[in-house]
Formats: sequence, C-alpha cells, structure tokens
Amino acid sequence: MQKDELNFNMEPPYPENNVYPPTWNFDNEKAWQLYRRAKREQWDEESINWAKVKEWASGLDRKQRLAIAYWWSLLSNFDNATPVFAYAVIKSFEYHLDTAVRGILTTITFDENRHNMACGLSISNMLQGFPLNFTPKDDLERKAKLNAEWVWWNGSRYWKAYLEAYRKYTFDVLFTSFMMGEAAATTVFTTMSKGAKMEEFSKLFKNTAVDETRHYAFTHLIISQEAQKMSEEKKKLVTKQVRAGFVFLSLITYKPPKDFWKLPPWFIETHEKMENIARDAGFYIPTEEEKENAWRDAIMRVGSSLYRYGIEMPSIPELGISGEEIKDLKEEDFIPIF
Ligand SMILES: [Fe+2]
Ligand SMILES: [Fe+2]
Repeated sequence: MQKDELNFNMEPPYPENNVYPPTWNFDNEKAWQLYRRAKREQWDEESINWAKVKEWASGLDRKQRLAIAYWWSLLSNFDNATPVFAYAVIKSFEYHLDTAVRGILTTITFDENRHNMACGLSISNMLQGFPLNFTPKDDLERKAKLNAEWVWWNGSRYWKAYLEAYRKYTFDVLFTSFMMGEAAATTVFTTMSKGAKMEEFSKLFKNTAVDETRHYAFTHLIISQEAQKMSEEKKKLVTKQVRAGFVFLSLITYKPPKDFWKLPPWFIETHEKMENIARDAGFYIPTEEEKENAWRDAIMRVGSSLYRYGIEMPSIPELGISGEEIKDLKEEDFIPIF
C-alpha cells in the first residue's frame, strides 16, 4: 500500500496472522501459573560437571565410548527441538494466542536448546565429532556411524512434515500431539536418572525429567482448555497423533519401529549391540521390560486424560493395548516431539 493510500485518520489496517500489533491478556491464570513454574525451574547445562564426565570416559575403551556417544546421537534426533518450538513461538504470535501460552512456548524453546546442548556436550566428551567426523575402524563402528546418520536423515523428513503441519492442523490438535512424546520422555528420563551410575548423568536426566514433566503439563493444559470445543473430526486426529507419537519415539524409547522409519537393514542388530556395550560400560539404558512398563505408564496417563474429554486412545498392539485401530498413518502425519 502506498503512503498516500493510507487513511491516517483511521486505525491502521493490520495484515491477518501477523505478529503485529503486540497484544497482551492477563487472564488464563492456569497458563500464567505454568509460565511462572517454567521460569522457576530453569537450570544450567553447564552446572553439570563435564570434566568429571570426561574423566569417567577416559577410563572406558573405544567401543564403550562409541556406544554411549551413539545413544546420545540418537537422543539428539528428538532433542533437536529448539527450532520446533521456536517455530511454534512465531505461530503463536502470528495467531495472537494467550500471552501466557506464548510465554510458555518461549520457555520450552529454551528448555529444548538446553537438552540439545546436553546431547552435544555428552557426545563431545565421549567421542568428539561422532558421528559426522568419526572415522570407523571396523564394520561395527561403520554401521553404528551410519545408523546415527540415517536416523538424523529421517529427522530431516520429519522436519518438513512439521512445517507443513501448521497448514493442516489447528493449535489445539498440534499441541496435544506433543502429549505422548512428553509423557514418554518424562518416564524414560526418570528411569534413566534413577539407574545412572555416573552421578553427573543422573543429575542431567533428573533435570531433564523436570523439564519434560512441565512440557507434559503444558499439553495437559491445552487439552483441558480446548478439548470440549473440539469437533469429532479433530478428536480423531488427536487419536491418530497419539499413535504417531508412539511410533516416532519408539526408536529411542522402545524398539525401533518398522513403520515410518527408513533405516539400514542392519539397524536393529547394530542398535542392540550398541545398547549392550553402553550398558556394560555402566551407562544405564532401561531393559526391554522397563521400556515396556514406561510406555504402558505413559499411555495410561495420556489415555486417562483423553478419555475425560471423549477422545479415544489408539490401539498399540506392540504393547497389547487395544483401542481405535489406526491404519492410514503416513509420513506427513508425524508431528510429535520430545
Ligand atoms: Fe527435550
Ligand atoms: Fe519436551
């Protein structure tokens, strides 16, 4: 619009879905409470004694350090979530969501940045440069490197789908889609913090679990405020997303799933070898039974809150859980995150 076309005697015409004008509202007390809690619970990844981690690593052999770096690389696929939430922040401003909700999303962005730093610091103290700048010495090392890199490549497919998701889904569906991930993350990190023999890792997992518990509380807040207004069609989408969350996160939290992931043929065998080497080194990874229990626990929690709002749980045959059968899960349906 040209300057001489503007009528300055009128209020300015803002474009739709623009971060301007700045707006504030101070109701939604539940969201404000969570925002305040997020500020209170901040912690610093540099308060972890990384020198101690490095010292511990120096007592391990090459394969053990590789296996632990491998595990952190896989985790980083899910904790590479700073841009995920940064994008949500932008969208929440464009759509003028509640001030406190935008505030919470801003804190989650910083939380995820911290988790991502923790992955990077852990890898670099175990086996600097893994996986991109790592030169394998044998076939197992070569396969482990490729496993990590191909998981990241799958992450890049997922990133594209995520950006598209904002065009297809509304915020209430999007944010409740995070629910499964946050619930699973909470249980897995709590288990890992209890099991970790290395004290610094135990602290790290404990702090991370505090963040993930809060992220879960955020998804819970959204569903408690939005579910009543949801159409049946939207509720079905949430059910589908809960299943997507399980498939997506199972790579690190359960068994590498067959659907969605495009991975090397040796993936599972090498993955299991790496997990066992890491365990032998004293790096605690839950057993298959513990993983199953963690997921059951997470699914029960999510299921009971969804049930209250008339949203069905999907069936999870892997865990013997029956529910709504999800058949048409596609690559572009995946929007969950840690
Ligand atoms: Fe995270
Ligand atoms: Fe999270």
